[in-house]
Amino acid sequence: MTDAVLDLGNVSVTYSGVARAVADVSLTVRPGEVVGLIGESGSGKSTLAHSILGLLPPGAAVSGDHMRLAGTDILTASARDIAALRGPAAAMVFQNPMATFSPLHTIGSQLTDFLWRDRASSRRDKRLRIIEALAEAGISDPQARFDAYPFELSGGMLQRVSIAAALLMKPALLIADEPTTALDVTMEAQILHLMRQLRARTGVAVLMISHQLGVIAEICDRVAVMYAGRIVEQGKVEAIFADPQHPYTRALLACELSLVESGATRLPVIDWQEAGRASEQDGVDTPARPASLGDAA
Ligand SMILES: Nc1ncnc2c1ncn2[C@@H]1O[C@H](COP(=O)(O)OP(=O)(O)OP(=O)(O)O)[C@@H](O)[C@H]1O
Ligand SMILES: [Mg+2]
Repeated sequence: MTDAVLDLGNVSVTYSGVARAVADVSLTVRPGEVVGLIGESGSGKSTLAHSILGLLPPGAAVSGDHMRLAGTDILTASARDIAALRGPAAAMVFQNPMATFSPLHTIGSQLTDFLWRDRASSRRDKRLRIIEALAEAGISDPQARFDAYPFELSGGMLQRVSIAAALLMKPALLIADEPTTALDVTMEAQILHLMRQLRARTGVAVLMISHQLGVIAEICDRVAVMYAGRIVEQGKVEAIFADPQHPYTRALLACELSLVESGATRLPVIDWQEAGRASEQDGVDTPARPASLGDAA
């Protein structure tokens, strides 16, 4: 699959002391496609995202058959080439918008820094582009926000700014790691609406990481379900929701329904032995429990 924006073939990631945090993951994201990555806490979603952008901490090791981002194989590229992909090939929106920005500098100066590669444009041109991007991200009074400090904006507003910042670099792939988890429900709906609009306008491909099936259903074309470092199931969102094959996916769907009733927003950790028993009854193949989860169950 050469025209994919992201093409992962059997990718694994280990941290020192953790047996594979990501294990044999194969996943593609095509131009303009929105792919969801869902799974419980600790299943390896952020690790996978960070490996794509070369953001893993020292000591983490990535291996696999191939890991192509916008045509470059990250597994064989130099650190310098990987750094050059950050921005034009892929940009990331993080869970906590407060942590994305330095509290010491204005929004405008930080977004100008995002455009450091563009040496041909003047500061004035960059300012105009940034103000336009802020307006497109639904920020009211963007001129004034340009000169504001992060603490002067609400969490939802700041998340709009980080989406604007990511898209300023015109990436082929936007990776959003739980972009709405830190926000209230109203803000969450607004951010998802914004992402849908921006996707339609810019054609950017998105890898959307979430705990919440509702978020995935809202915005994604396809979804991959991660469990203990592996993708246990992937396919079209409607197909997976209508007829989940893997016991973990079934447990996830059952959980979400009970959460809707109880008003909670986070998925509990699924009991592995329960999932295993369910799979025996259903005759579905369950992957071996990896050592990285410890022996807590
Ligand atoms: N910097 C690190 N050093 C060592 N182990 C790590 C590190 N970051 C994550 N891990 C481990 O790797 C595994 C996957 O973690 P990861 O953060 O990728 O999961 P996640 O699916 O993003 O979880 P969450 O939904 O809570 O964000 C876990 O076992 C975690 O403890
Ligand atoms: Mg995470």
